[in-house]
Amino acid sequence: MNAIAPAPETLWTDIGAVTDIPRRGARRVPSPQGDLAVFRTGDNEVYALYDRCPHKQGPLSQGIVHGRTVACPLHNWIIDLATGHPTGADAGKGCTPTARVEVRSGRIFLGLAR
Ligand code: FES
Repeated sequence: MNAIAPAPETLWTDIGAVTDIPRRGARRVPSPQGDLAVFRTGDNEVYALYDRCPHKQGPLSQGIVHGRTVACPLHNWIIDLATGHPTGADAGKGCTPTARVEVRSGRIFLGLAR
């Protein structure tokens, strides 16, 4: 018999207002699963990735945001904020895990497994 494991419960945590993060900026947020990088784009979209580049673990929260991508500060790989995948010449070379994030009434909530 194949048992289906229940989905882990999600703990939604308010980490602050969208406006606490500058446009095209990021904020590093510690979590039990590792540091996260929460990004705000120039178009006011919010994304969350684990704060480690798939190349050599560079801190993506220190990178430069362009559109819906971030340039890693160490070797300039360009990472898609929505998927965590490298783009361009480095496409297909690993992936940074994404984290669940929602904006509710101007506040950013991170969804982490309990
Ligand atoms: S560690 Fe990010 S590009 Fe090398």
